[in-house]
Amino acid sequence: MATVETGIANGVSFALTDEQKELRALAREFAEKEIRPHAAEHDERQTHPAEIVAKAHELGLMNLHLPESLGGPELSAFDGMLVGEELNWGCSGIGTSIGANGLAAGLAPLLSEPILGCFGLSAPGAGSDVSGIQTTAVLEGDAYRVNGSKMFITNAGQASWIVCFASTDRSKGHRGLTALVIPMDAEGVTIEKHLDKMGQRATDTSAVAFQDVVVAAANRLGGEGDGFKIAMQTLDFTRPGTAIGAVGVAQAAYELAVDYAKERVQFGMPIAMNQGVSFLVADMAAEIEAARLLTWQAAWMIDQGYGRKATKYSSFAKRYAADTAMKVTTDAVQVFGGYGYIKEYPVEKLMRDAKLFQIYEGTSQIQRLVIAKEIFLG
Ligand code: CAA
Repeated sequence: MATVETGIANGVSFALTDEQKELRALAREFAEKEIRPHAAEHDERQTHPAEIVAKAHELGLMNLHLPESLGGPELSAFDGMLVGEELNWGCSGIGTSIGANGLAAGLAPLLSEPILGCFGLSAPGAGSDVSGIQTTAVLEGDAYRVNGSKMFITNAGQASWIVCFASTDRSKGHRGLTALVIPMDAEGVTIEKHLDKMGQRATDTSAVAFQDVVVAAANRLGGEGDGFKIAMQTLDFTRPGTAIGAVGVAQAAYELAVDYAKERVQFGMPIAMNQGVSFLVADMAAEIEAARLLTWQAAWMIDQGYGRKATKYSSFAKRYAADTAMKVTTDAVQVFGGYGYIKEYPVEKLMRDAKLFQIYEGTSQIQRLVIAKEIFLG
């Protein structure tokens, strides 16, 4: 008879193959040995973890999405979830630095060197409202002239290029947005500021300015006006990856809370003996599992080619996993009590890191908006 462990019952399986278990174990080992020991230092100093990114690249834990036609591993989105959870369990700042290439275009140079691309969607005045992007790209002969600025761009300060979403026709709103691949060393591109963040401090997040940047029309992704849909399709693909990062952070907080609740003695017994504590932990365990399964489902749907039908499920995963990570890490701080609130113990960092999952790649409120639109208009 089929079991959860052995595999398929009624066409549903939660079982991982041996290869998937090995991949997950490899990522966990990497997170344990290469990420965790350096996480606090990068958090404290807000430094880019270049050496760790390079090691992840060498080990094949980066750019998992790149197609075989470019020489990439072309792993499934599902397999990407297994790696992403573990890297983010190690440190979500470092995990995001390694994983954010999934947002940038899949270009071959990513394979030969541990280089980074970045996704230039958000702007100072256009975060949730993508159609409000003010950056302009004007076609002059066979090149565009780009002017404007971008805000909150992950890895921008370390990236070799940016996929910049700019308006080629302001009168058309979202239908006037166009995606351009711009080298970060192009004349007129400047990093205006490395932003000083509350959490995920090992990931560079920067403000970028474009002043009369000339970029060849050949660097356009898709056609003029395709930018909005390219951005949405990218986010449909990457939101499960963000969701699983949140699961990794929640799992880390949960494991620490369980160990601490068993060790910490108050009133003559481990605090785990109190329902006030054990029920918090029980809820953590159930909600993390639910978040993981929602995320696995969304990734599986992407792999099965559900396309637009996966949009709602990507947002289910992102919304639920981000909110779960916030709740679980907040409760983990509670389990640790006063020790949870000081930097000597690791859970306060997890709580700061978790907050960003409710904001980037579409806030929890935007995920609800997407879900509601899919329900009522889809
Ligand atoms: N796939 C393909 N097409 C889509 C789509 C999708 N998932 N979602 C919408 N569209 C299409 C619609 O069908 C519609 O098409 P038509 O032009 O043919 O009518 C068009 O796009 C416009 O759709 P909406 O009317 O729904 O657009 P909207 O202006 O109301 O905005 C939104 C929708 C969901 C709010 C969107 O703006 C959005 O996702 N906002 C959040 C942006 C976001 O997530 N930003 C995060 C920045 S990236 C980041 O954080 C990365 C990082 O660095 C870590």
